[in-house]
Amino acid sequence: MKRIAVFTSGGDAPGMNACIRAVVRTAVYHKLEVFGIKRGYNGMIQGDIFPMTSFSVSNIVQRGGTVLKSARSMEFKTKEGRQKAYENLKRLEIDGLVAIGGDGTFTGASIFYDEYQLPTVGCPGTIDNDLYGTDYTIGFDTAVNTALDAIDKIRDTADSHDRIFFIEVMGRDSGYIAIESGIGGGAEMIMVPETLTTFNDVIETLRQGWDRSKTSSIIVVAEGDELGNATEIAEKVKKQLPHGDYRVSILGHTQRGGAPTAMDRILASRLGVGAVEGLLKGMSNVMAGVVNNQLVYTPFKETITKNKAIHPDLIRIVDILSV
Ligand code: F6P
Repeated sequence: MKRIAVFTSGGDAPGMNACIRAVVRTAVYHKLEVFGIKRGYNGMIQGDIFPMTSFSVSNIVQRGGTVLKSARSMEFKTKEGRQKAYENLKRLEIDGLVAIGGDGTFTGASIFYDEYQLPTVGCPGTIDNDLYGTDYTIGFDTAVNTALDAIDKIRDTADSHDRIFFIEVMGRDSGYIAIESGIGGGAEMIMVPETLTTFNDVIETLRQGWDRSKTSSIIVVAEGDELGNATEIAEKVKKQLPHGDYRVSILGHTQRGGAPTAMDRILASRLGVGAVEGLLKGMSNVMAGVVNNQLVYTPFKETITKNKAIHPDLIRIVDILSV
């Protein structure tokens, strides 16, 4: 292997820059040439590919977002799009790829590998922490801390005004951000898609709180919860318990931005090095991850099809701590 390329794809995540930096510097360290691809698969299709050096990644380890920019490519879902992408890579004699992204990115990478057998190793970059094959994904820790900071602030005002807040956090179909920020923020209730919270559970929790003279409560709602989004749930609750003072706060894309935490920078650095060294060892069509503090490689097909369950301890402690 002589020349590799790196790209970020899908929703950006804090720590992606630290990962790009690690990939570029590891390539340079091992005397590989390294190219950056702009805007994920779209840049691959459009030929927006440029040489990178150690210097190109100076001063980015601490920055949120991704200097390579990101996109969710519709064109790469087509055979013609993937063919254009392959031709651009072939023309530049790129013989290895590092894909930084989430399940959509690895679904694309897996199809691309089946068609063209270009060695590819992935680094899990998504705030959702929904990828099988790694305990944590790059960006998750920062997103949880961002959500936690917001929960702490909202608690101050909830307490001053005796209000019930429904705080909606991101995570797509996963409740990881909700459960971890909810535990950290001492939420009275955490609603996640992985466990069924009924509407009656919500009503009961609020009633019991009032019975114990609790005047304010925080309910963290994962955006993918089966009962609906935070606004819908709050409206329904208001109909049943009209005397409460309810507010909804949707944290949204703030969770995707900001400087990565130390944990994300270190994870990203470790995985970036692991991805390039994996390619050099002949690994392909796999995602680098850290499981039980060990660097591991999991086939893309498993990372995108296997479910990563929330650890049962977390679910259990939510019940214990919210009484
Ligand atoms: O996958 C990351 C994520 O932020 C999800 O948590 C969220 O559902 C989605 O992306 C939002 O996507 P977009 O930025 O395209 O609106």
